[in-house]
Amino acid sequence: MAQAPTDRYSKIAIALHWTIALLILSLVVFGFLMTQDWMPQRFKIYQWHKSFGIVVLLLSGFRLVWRLTHKPPPLPGDMKGWEVWAAKVTHIGFYALMIGVPLLGWAMVSASTLPIENKLFYLIPLPDLPGISASEAAEDRLKGLHEIGAKLILLLFVLHVGGALKHHFVAKDGTLGRMIPRLRPKERQ
Ligand code: HEM
Ligand code: HEM
Repeated sequence: MAQAPTDRYSKIAIALHWTIALLILSLVVFGFLMTQDWMPQRFKIYQWHKSFGIVVLLLSGFRLVWRLTHKPPPLPGDMKGWEVWAAKVTHIGFYALMIGVPLLGWAMVSASTLPIENKLFYLIPLPDLPGISASEAAEDRLKGLHEIGAKLILLLFVLHVGGALKHHFVAKDGTLGRMIPRLRPKERQ
């Protein structure tokens, strides 16, 4: 469907961006905490981690379809070639990780040899991913990949937020207002 030209993301894109960002940051923090022996209630946190991780997978799948069918607002015209390239690579990397990291997590628990019943939000049984046979070696490999994926998300996060803040405070080109319309003067919202 044709979109009216605008210089900010749509309400749906903004809601998805901030919901997924918040969930991912919590998943990374609680993911690292729950794997520490000293963490109280860590096995409960595992179940919440898996549940919210699957929510991120579903929301990110929807967001990708939304993104491919809805044109984003144009980037500020005075961005240098390498800046446009860096923004595009970061966004594509984020989409790959927003879908890839939870899939690796799901594959990891599917490969587990432990008899743990996975129930999303203690309600919906999470089936194993098809085609994955349970083995300690496969689980360990997937665990390693899941952790690398989470670290890559953190790396992209630092680059992404650094870029957003540079645009806001140094270039002052309104890029942050594309995702936080309240930062815009009233007449441009
Ligand atoms: C965007 C979504 C996700 C993020 C950012 C994320 C992040 C993390 C992080 C940072 C860790 C700790 C690092 C480690 O020791 O492995 C972790 C561990 C873990 N994650 Fe996720 N995760 C996500 C989704 C999922 C999903 C969907 C599942 C399963 C359905 C899952 C299952 C696990 C499990 C079982 C562990 C513990 C691994 C261990 O015992 O070492 N994760 N995750
Ligand atoms: C883990 C957390 C985050 C993830 C995964 C994430 C992901 C993304 C993605 C994929 C886009 C591209 C949207 C599209 O075209 O479809 C985007 C745009 C944007 N994000 Fe984030 N983001 C996160 C956190 C943040 C934070 C904390 C800020 C603010 C400090 C921010 C500011 C922006 C801005 C201003 C844009 C639009 C500007 C542009 O097109 O480059 N993001 N984000």
